[in-house]
Amino acid sequence: MKSFAALLAFVAVASADRVITVYNACPFTVWPALFTDPNSPGGRPAQVTGWEAGKFTAVTFNVPERWNGRIWGRRNCNFANGNTDPNTSCLDGGCNGGLKCAFIGGTGVPPATVAEFNLNADGVDWYDVSLVDGYNLPMRITNDVGCPAPDCPVDLGPNCPAELKGPFDSVGFPVGCKSACVVDSLAGKNAHNPNCCTDEFSTPGACPPSGVRHYDYFKRNCPNSYAYAYDESSGTALWTCAANRRPHYTITLCP
Ligand SMILES: *[C@@H]1O[C@H](CO)[C@@H](O)[C@H](O)[C@H]1NC(C)=O
Repeated sequence: MKSFAALLAFVAVASADRVITVYNACPFTVWPALFTDPNSPGGRPAQVTGWEAGKFTAVTFNVPERWNGRIWGRRNCNFANGNTDPNTSCLDGGCNGGLKCAFIGGTGVPPATVAEFNLNADGVDWYDVSLVDGYNLPMRITNDVGCPAPDCPVDLGPNCPAELKGPFDSVGFPVGCKSACVVDSLAGKNAHNPNCCTDEFSTPGACPPSGVRHYDYFKRNCPNSYAYAYDESSGTALWTCAANRRPHYTITLCP
């Protein structure tokens, strides 16, 4: 009896977690990053908040049942000499903290394609591939229970509108495509901005996609992605899966 009870306890603990895999299918090294929302009901996973992923390698880990957080890839990083500056340690997607992102404020420097999860919020898993902060890598989120698989499978760098294009690597290749909001914010124009849905534009009705510069470039190429702050209205931005199906999610970079 005792060992049976112990086994039950073990199963209960194990089933209170979810499984996520991050697979780097890019033919080059990327540095995945993991950030947990400070208000995540399930708290933080034990998984390290940043790691180096060689080409064609995968890492699988558990997250809490009610995890709320994001995962993305960082490009062209170099943490040598203790460089933890998010703006210079990686070409894009860099976070405060260096290789391991800080628990507080450890989100990525745009542009970055981001996998967003809000697991088991009242019985529903919510997830999306966000381009709100621009694009830096192709991405797809798949699962093992047949729920939708949002993605942005194409390289949005080369054909990116000129004013959004970049940053660029050492041979001049664009490793990102910023959103109009990111470009405007870098120019100090985040406030009262229809591209950012700020201030008087901070409701879905007041911030339609037609008012967002170059929205169509992102949405036309990646119709299943979340392409601006209120993209739910497209009907193809935010995805759900019943939490009791306990999906195992795989985030593939360069699917
Ligand atoms: C990184 O760059 C952004 C945008 O220019 C700036 O706001 C931020 O302070 C910089 N971070 C650091 C640590 O220098």
